[in-house]
Amino acid sequence: MPTKHLSILEVKAHIELVSYNSNSAKIQRRCYKLKALILAAGKGTRLKPLTDTLPKHLIPVANKPIIFYAMEQIHEAGIDDIGIVVSTESGPEIKKVVSDGFRWNARVTYVLQSEPLGLAHAVMAAREFLADSSFLLFLGDNLFRDRVKNIVDEFNTCSPDALVVLKEVADPRAFGVAEVNTLGKVQCVVEKPKEPKSNLALAGVYVFTAGVHEAISKLKPSRRGEYEITDAIQKLIEQGKDVHCHTLKGWWLDAGKKEDLLKANRVLLEEVTGPAIYGDVDFKSSISGNIEIGSGTKIVNSTLSGPVSIAENCHIIDSRIGPYTSLGPGTIITDAFVENSIIMAGAHITSIPHIVDSIIGRNVEVVLKAARVEKSEIFAGDYARIEL
Ligand code: G1P
Repeated sequence: MPTKHLSILEVKAHIELVSYNSNSAKIQRRCYKLKALILAAGKGTRLKPLTDTLPKHLIPVANKPIIFYAMEQIHEAGIDDIGIVVSTESGPEIKKVVSDGFRWNARVTYVLQSEPLGLAHAVMAAREFLADSSFLLFLGDNLFRDRVKNIVDEFNTCSPDALVVLKEVADPRAFGVAEVNTLGKVQCVVEKPKEPKSNLALAGVYVFTAGVHEAISKLKPSRRGEYEITDAIQKLIEQGKDVHCHTLKGWWLDAGKKEDLLKANRVLLEEVTGPAIYGDVDFKSSISGNIEIGSGTKIVNSTLSGPVSIAENCHIIDSRIGPYTSLGPGTIITDAFVENSIIMAGAHITSIPHIVDSIIGRNVEVVLKAARVEKSEIFAGDYARIEL
């Protein structure tokens, strides 16, 4: 067992575990603290033009960048050594926002995946960071209701070679699909099968021991030209390794498309736990349901129907907002109705009767040019000017 490169804390954890469990081969695997690896290199092609200027993982959902939810889950699971795999495009912006991980009491190491060659390829790119640790692999655009802490605890209690997270879905063909026996052991996994053998999709969280690296090293590119983590898991199963599963009870969302983002926004806004009002609401305005209003925000002669999250320094005048709407910092909305939408920082919306099911990027301007349109569904990247 190599001991070099371990911090004093890690060595201490190692000694403690070995001394409590000196006869258990299984426990030996846990001698290193679990690390986490967040994958955030994806290009987000299905979210263009938004993702031309903003990495998918930084799109705000309920006014928080998607990747923050992964950071929070990992922090709650007690993991403080986190690698984030980025691409040359996503790296600079993600580094600016997540920084060194201080806000989650974590140490963040950035790993560059130079080409988009799949999830297993991203793990390969992070080999030096992961060293011989067991690790939690977290797809940075996935959101979960269930606590990842419970999944990590299950891994630590059962000490399998790998643990995959599953969710029953109506149409599993777009995912990795698992077959599980009556004892809860995974028998087989297949990436995007045409004829799925179950409705259990691989959700975007996995826990592996270091043994996965050897399985990854033997992979060949799949039909879509990627090194699939699903194929590495299948190799582990074929080698007779112990692959456990954890089935999610709550919602799971993979924020890959506009509809998914709006759904995630709705679901997360529903968890806003009560009015939290730090801005000013004038006497002509009315609010109902769960509402968050950031400091410096002014609500004038407007109606807010929660759940709604309005960030700092916004100005809402003669308007109707909500339900299921989040407005980023510095948004200005005048004489408009916005419902079921994500409006990002610095957007200006003026005299639009009804914006619905929309995602509007940073500093976008939406103005009325001609006759009044009844309903508008907008999907706009940063700095667009839209005349309706
Ligand atoms: C990836 C995995 C797939 C998994 C999915 C979860 O798919 O390959 O097994 O079910 O994430 O979001 P992709 O998003 O690359 O199509």
